[in-house]
Amino acid sequence: MVLSDTASWHGRRGADLTQPVRQASRSPGEVSPREAPIRASVTLLALLLAACDGEPPAQLRVAGGDPERGRAVAASHGCGACHVIPGVRGANSWAGPPLMEWARRGYLAGHLPNSPENLVAWLRDPQAIAPGSAMPNLGLTEKEARDAAAYLFTLGADQLPPVPAGLPLGPKEAGPREEPRIRPRA
Ligand code: HEC
Repeated sequence: MVLSDTASWHGRRGADLTQPVRQASRSPGEVSPREAPIRASVTLLALLLAACDGEPPAQLRVAGGDPERGRAVAASHGCGACHVIPGVRGANSWAGPPLMEWARRGYLAGHLPNSPENLVAWLRDPQAIAPGSAMPNLGLTEKEARDAAAYLFTLGADQLPPVPAGLPLGPKEAGPREEPRIRPRA
């Protein structure tokens, strides 16, 4: 394509393309009065998103678990030595599976449905569920395990699809199969 074509495509025919578009006379970084409220709400939204991932739906809430305490449990019990856990300082090891967006995970330790009670059981005693697993028993109390599980289920909770969280649909639950759109030529 020729340069003049490109210019007219952008509606700037005749403009000197070697010159930057002239800005309104405002110093860099200054926000126009019209933009200010938009910027403020974008900043607020970003802060809210950074503060927590979200409240999990009822079926992913851990009875008796406090997510904020759980975050502290994860930090104090060295989970970060083996896992990436968003929001937990220093938890950036890839020795074990990363735990980001945990609420979206379908299975736990490869075979258990990822439910709150299964996660609590895992955190209390991974060796009972997967003997010989590289995840050691860390001696969490029932309360600590509930708190840690509650924290993990906040991760990615705001990104859940509108189907029952984490549970894949069985063959008969997904509705009738659509006819293939492309048929082989006769
Ligand atoms: C010494 C390394 C190590 C430490 C410390 C550790 N884990 Fe693990 N963790 C692993 C490994 C390895 C696996 C994978 C185990 C498996 O699937 O058999 C795992 C699995 C998990 C899983 C299931 C992940 C999945 O994808 O199925 C969760 C959840 C978890 N750990 C949470 C924690 C928490 C919370 C802590 C701290 C209380 C912790 N882990 C401490 C190594 C560790």
